[in-house]
Amino acid sequence: MQYPKDLTDALEIIWGEGILSPGGPEEIAQMLNGIDLSGSRVLDIGSGLGGVDVLLAAKHGATAVVGIDVEPQLVESARDLVARKGLAGRITFQLVAPGSLPFVDDSFDLVFSKDAMLHIPEKLALYREVLRVLRPGGWFIAADWLWSELASESSVVDAWLSNSRSTIAFTQPAAALQALMDAGFMEAQVTDRRRQLQEAGRKELTRLSGPLGQKLATILGADVAERRLASAKGRQGALDSGDLIPCHIRGRCSA
Ligand SMILES: C[S@@+](CC[C@H](N)C(=O)[O-])C[C@H]1O[C@@H](n2cnc3c(N)ncnc32)[C@H](O)[C@@H]1O
Repeated sequence: MQYPKDLTDALEIIWGEGILSPGGPEEIAQMLNGIDLSGSRVLDIGSGLGGVDVLLAAKHGATAVVGIDVEPQLVESARDLVARKGLAGRITFQLVAPGSLPFVDDSFDLVFSKDAMLHIPEKLALYREVLRVLRPGGWFIAADWLWSELASESSVVDAWLSNSRSTIAFTQPAAALQALMDAGFMEAQVTDRRRQLQEAGRKELTRLSGPLGQKLATILGADVAERRLASAKGRQGALDSGDLIPCHIRGRCSA
């Protein structure tokens, strides 16, 4: 289990209800810039606690969202969240095994993924699956953590991730772009978001060193608050060293 409850409770307090990744609603709006989701059927790969899916339906107007994830306790929590929000008729979740997507061809108008594909090493196989389940003309929109060529050997990255329970795929932006094109995507783009995330990370560090850190300590304990601050400092170090390169990814299925 890479996302146990002690970790997800802390991440929700930092990033918002049902959200396990940085950036919040603004980051999701930027990912979807220029794309109208109204009337769309959306697949969300790595849906976590479901907060992203609530935004895709309630704020961006997706008619139906299917979230998939590999951890059963997350799928269960996501189902609880959408039931509480009265959105269970539009948003559903499926527990999946890593690998092929359990959907027939042309099932979705848009495939979305926020900070989940960092756990999936085989990008070409993944992107081919995404393309297969997209309808002609449909978009693939993702945020992924990509890396410098030497990140897997970087002492800065090692210092950050040595205590983490996550499995990370150290893919470079150029390799991701090539894999998108090799998979057959049109209009393939990989956009470096490091500067924006550096700025957001600095603000997060200030909050974690102040009232947000105190809130975490009060609700979850001082050790949890310290671990989150140490992890945020580690992530900031990897952003500042240029090893971590968060990117937005886009590709379109040919019409
Ligand atoms: C950092 S969390 C992001 C969750 C959510 N997208 C968000 O932004 O709140 C990464 C998620 O990817 C999921 N995940 C990891 N490997 C996966 C795979 N092969 N297929 C689907 N989901 C996966 C994890 O269980 C976790 O929920």
